[in-house]
Amino acid sequence: MDYQNILVENDNGIVVLTFNREKFLNALNQQTMLEIKDFFDKGFKEIADLKGVVLTGAGAKAFVAGADINEFLNVTNGEQMAQKGQDILSLIEQFHKPVIAAVNGFALGGGCELAMCCHIRVASPNARFSQPEVNLGIIPGYGGTQRLVQLIGKGRALELMMTGDMIDAAEAYRVGLVNHVVEEGQTVAKAKEIIAKIATKAPIAIAKVIEAVNAHFDPGGDAGFFREVVEFGKCAKSKDFKEGATAFVEKRKPVFIGK
Ligand code: COA
Repeated sequence: MDYQNILVENDNGIVVLTFNREKFLNALNQQTMLEIKDFFDKGFKEIADLKGVVLTGAGAKAFVAGADINEFLNVTNGEQMAQKGQDILSLIEQFHKPVIAAVNGFALGGGCELAMCCHIRVASPNARFSQPEVNLGIIPGYGGTQRLVQLIGKGRALELMMTGDMIDAAEAYRVGLVNHVVEEGQTVAKAKEIIAKIATKAPIAIAKVIEAVNAHFDPGGDAGFFREVVEFGKCAKSKDFKEGATAFVEKRKPVFIGK
């Protein structure tokens, strides 16, 4: 597959995959999602001696500023959209080599969810995290309601998801959302350093650590993830969702009516 929205650079088996829609703060449109899926499904097989993957965003401002809100206006099947997104992020979470998010700016909504499905997160001081979906009349749909709780605990996760508040890198580090905060411009280098270290360990053991840790959060089913899909689907049918997305595009505050 020819990629239009992601860049794949191979540095000695460490792949840097860059979300490359800087004009839209690297927002995830469906084409970008397809390209991510293609890489983690089969594209990676073309890389000789793959050691790991670093995900990052083009430019200095954003990792990924969320799902592409322009496309929200055309969503007809919210459940399908959430399920597809969850499946793709789950491919990353289950990937047999380390995947590290190098968060170089805004990681909002789907961008925060993308960072969270990675095995490790490295942030620059200007990184900002939030799940702002409630501002748009929707809920996180790419696993955010589940992984945020896993990473920072129920109370903090509920507050962030209900207020839509944005937290900075220092706070993200304090609550355990990121593993490291490094100087601006150094996130990819730090991620590569971690992958290089992991690459000196036994590859099968690394793959099994990933599998076993993921299994901890899947004790006989993924009821929470399923529920997220269903509730995302219900929100996507609401008038408030149309209003939220339209208000963003029109650069005004939404007026929600609870319908
Ligand atoms: N989807 C589509 N386009 C987006 C986007 C998104 N999630 N986030 C930003 N953009 C676009 C903006 O519309 C703008 O495009 P324009 O230049 O054609 O007007 C461009 O990216 C730059 O963003 P802008 O809002 O002008 O930058 P800012 O510095 O004033 O604000 C943010 C940055 C991240 C705070 C703001 O863009 C924002 O709130 N984005 C939406 C975040 C969000 O709700 N994400 C979750 C979606 S579920």
